[in-house]
Amino acid sequence: MSSTLTFHNPLPEGVEDLRPWFIAIHDLPDEIDWAAFWGNEQPVLLDVGCGRGLFLYNASVENPQNNYLGLELDFREGRRAAKRLVKRQSENARIIGGDATIVLKKHIPAHSVDAVHVYFPDPWWRRRHRRRRIFTDEFVDRCARVLKHGGELHSWTDVPDYFEIIQALMDHHPEFEILNAPEEHPPEHDMDYQTSFERKARKKGIEIHRGLWRRK
Ligand SMILES: C[S@@+](CC[C@H](N)C(=O)[O-])C[C@H]1O[C@@H](n2cnc3c(N)ncnc32)[C@H](O)[C@@H]1O
Repeated sequence: MSSTLTFHNPLPEGVEDLRPWFIAIHDLPDEIDWAAFWGNEQPVLLDVGCGRGLFLYNASVENPQNNYLGLELDFREGRRAAKRLVKRQSENARIIGGDATIVLKKHIPAHSVDAVHVYFPDPWWRRRHRRRRIFTDEFVDRCARVLKHGGELHSWTDVPDYFEIIQALMDHHPEFEILNAPEEHPPEHDMDYQTSFERKARKKGIEIHRGLWRRK
């Protein structure tokens, strides 16, 4: 366990302690020291709103040379994802339970991250809830702050109007340039999808919009 983490809030009785795989935001130091957090200097990649953690799990198994950090607001989902990491005793994947926008603003050092992945951000369908969407000018600024120069931002969604907004924010941001996003490939097995939401949407035949940008 990292020396910079202070686990000060005792968990309620009966709640399994999943640390260090699942760490609540209030247990983070003001600014995370990545080398102390991971115990190595490997590149750090973020999965914002990791949900059940399919991407986090697969990517961390396939790329042991990278460290993957999921940020998940919903503690139940985050803990469920973390349990899979516990089972594997994964050394290069962790989940922080809390609001990603705060983690990005407050806890992640500037220019310290190699990639930010944001897959299927909540669409907030109702017009009056739209302002809850995570992609805003401020969110993109926060991603630009934490990314290294040359770092990548990946975002996919099955919501066409939300993708237009993401594209508008990203394409016009002075600190990002557009890259070609990966093409869709037919799945080789039932779990061969980037995330659970991609799997669900593709099984229903819904089109996926994929975006990729590079921090200048
Ligand atoms: C539609 S789900 C997609 C989950 C996963 N990325 C996937 O593609 O399967 C969106 C996830 O983002 C999480 N989320 C929403 N707002 C968030 C925030 N501010 N910080 C962290 N996670 C957030 C939600 O709790 C939910 O798990």
